Amino acid sequence: MQKEIPYKIFLTEEELPKTWHNVRASMKELPEPFINPVTRKPCGAEDLKPVFCDELIAQELNTTDKYIPIPQGIQDFYKMFRPSPLVRAYNLEKKLDTPAKIYYKFEGQNTSGSHKLNSAAAQVYYAKQQGLTSLTTETGAGQWGTALAMACAFYGLDLKVYMVKVSAEQKPHRKAVIETYGGKVIPSPSNTTEAGRKILEENPGTGGSLGCAISEAMETAVKTPNCRYVLGSVLNHVLLHQTIIGQETKAALEKYGIEPDMIIGCAGGGSNLGGLISPFMSDRLEGKNNIHFIAVEPASCPTLTRGRYALDYGDTGRMTPLMRMYTLGCGFMPSANHAGGLRYHGMSPIISKLYHDGYIEARSVEQTKVFEAAILFARTEGTLPAPESSHAIRIAIDEALKCKETGEAKTIVFGLSGTGYFDMTAYQSYLDGTMTDYIPTDEELEKSFASLIDPEAR
Ligand SMILES: Cc1ncc(COP(=O)(O)O)c(C=O)c1O
Repeated sequence: MQKEIPYKIFLTEEELPKTWHNVRASMKELPEPFINPVTRKPCGAEDLKPVFCDELIAQELNTTDKYIPIPQGIQDFYKMFRPSPLVRAYNLEKKLDTPAKIYYKFEGQNTSGSHKLNSAAAQVYYAKQQGLTSLTTETGAGQWGTALAMACAFYGLDLKVYMVKVSAEQKPHRKAVIETYGGKVIPSPSNTTEAGRKILEENPGTGGSLGCAISEAMETAVKTPNCRYVLGSVLNHVLLHQTIIGQETKAALEKYGIEPDMIIGCAGGGSNLGGLISPFMSDRLEGKNNIHFIAVEPASCPTLTRGRYALDYGDTGRMTPLMRMYTLGCGFMPSANHAGGLRYHGMSPIISKLYHDGYIEARSVEQTKVFEAAILFARTEGTLPAPESSHAIRIAIDEALKCKETGEAKTIVFGLSGTGYFDMTAYQSYLDGTMTDYIPTDEELEKSFASLIDPEAR
């Protein structure tokens, strides 16, 4: 007999995972290695050393160890905000009058307001171990910059955050939070770097993009002694750190004998989605389940649904190695009317490969539909969701409504990657009826595909 499922399933502190889960160890075909843009040969650790921390490079290149130990110093940080709850959305189910059973893994219960702290803690810990004294990074919506500032304060490192200019303007309080934790915020593109000056010259008045901010942060890291650059998404090691989410979710579901039919996550650079699905995906790849995985992205930045699977740079300034990923082209400039994150031109090479091989479905949604779902969720479940996470909510609701029509009692799990307290300008514009949708035309996308090193690649 199935036990009664509580509203929230909590794990105990002792049940916190002691390892991260490396899904690449279960993949029959691996994502292509990073390519050095000059030699066009796969990057080794030496190529990555000037930019990234040593231990993170080892994790980045590790395709064989399925379980990677979480050092005690990181476990101790995790204890401040983990385990996070797996919530049964009873109230939402009732409102939708659906036979579907909806669960969400809630990552917003920390001051950064999102899952980003899972990787920030790990990355700053390793930087400290290596004896570095400062870090640089980019931030879009601001959650990553906040998470990193929290981790830098905890482990004692200096931090410069290049924040996408439109976000910095839309969310002045983000800057205050980051500064409270000791980080320095620079709206990007800025005049403080060569990359920033060049981007400003070519696109005066641009609101910036994650790609620009990455170029500026990397340049500063390379030019500053004892400093490295850290990235909040896309890379293999970031996705690896986020697997704490999926492992906790799996353990919580198993406690009650619950088997998900589908798992849904929003996808910007792919880290929360990848972290949520990794342990379930390994099982799927090993023939142990048949879960339907869905990645949800904005219609205004349709990387998976309309992008090309091609070798591309991770940043606008073309400083990163080349990665084979779904991409809109590193020259893609997201529409300024798009609220929140999920506006990165590329996608995690791991998620890209799994999607390319047919293990993940991708859907894109327009932002007014996303905010409609966010408000329904807030009014029924109580939590104010981040716009990014609300992409997953939208599809979870759509799927639950399909169940209502078919009478199927599917088990739907989605990632609630964060809260939306800093996104009230966007909420207000939805409520005022002034929010609009933007879907790039094929011609516009063609223009940004022209920034690919091989524009004909498919
Ligand atoms: C709350 C939240 N969810 C999701 C994302 C998207 O990033 P990723 O796809 O790496 O999880 C972001 C990024 O800014 C975020 O802040």
